[in-house]
Amino acid sequence: MAPSINIPIALLIAFTAMSLQPSPSAAFSFPPIVPCIPGLPRIPLFPCYEPPPQPAPPKEPTECRSHLMNMMPCAGFLTNTSVTAPSATCCDGFTRVAHEGAAICYCRVVNGDIGQLFPAPMNFTRMFALDTACSAPFQLRALAKHCDTGAP
Ligand SMILES: *[C@@H]1O[C@H](CO)[C@@H](O)[C@H](O)[C@H]1NC(C)=O
Ligand SMILES: *[C@@H]1O[C@H](CO)[C@@H](O)[C@H](O)[C@H]1NC(C)=O
Repeated sequence: MAPSINIPIALLIAFTAMSLQPSPSAAFSFPPIVPCIPGLPRIPLFPCYEPPPQPAPPKEPTECRSHLMNMMPCAGFLTNTSVTAPSATCCDGFTRVAHEGAAICYCRVVNGDIGQLFPAPMNFTRMFALDTACSAPFQLRALAKHCDTGAP
């Protein structure tokens, strides 16, 4: 990261740390042990601390199923040994998931959830070969590292 990004964060942390310490010239007050509650007035002897900002929730489409439906044409290649290559329709649908901004939904592919949409068990070897077979500009194995292993 560039230093120009780090410096304001460092200053912010330093300033926050300073504001938590009672200044020597200030009258005695208890250390802040309770978070500030928005909308409530501050009590002088009982300083509160600003609660840390909550981390943003992971950006996930609420419904992956509609995106995964793009990959239904892949069912043959992914479940049927006689089908030796993914069709163009399959590859189009496979890459469309990413084009729809739903790349997180590939987690439902690599963890096998998408197999529920298929009439036969999915061949995971073929699934992980789909990116190369479809000349996709990403690798499912690399994406899989960012997926929760215990995804429901
Ligand atoms: C598997 O694919 C072959 C060749 O396309 C097809 O003839 C056969 O019906 C398929 N089997 C199933 C179970 O879909
Ligand atoms: C899965 O696909 C791979 C690659 O096509 C094949 O070698 C393997 O036999 C398949 N496994 C099953 C259980 O059909």
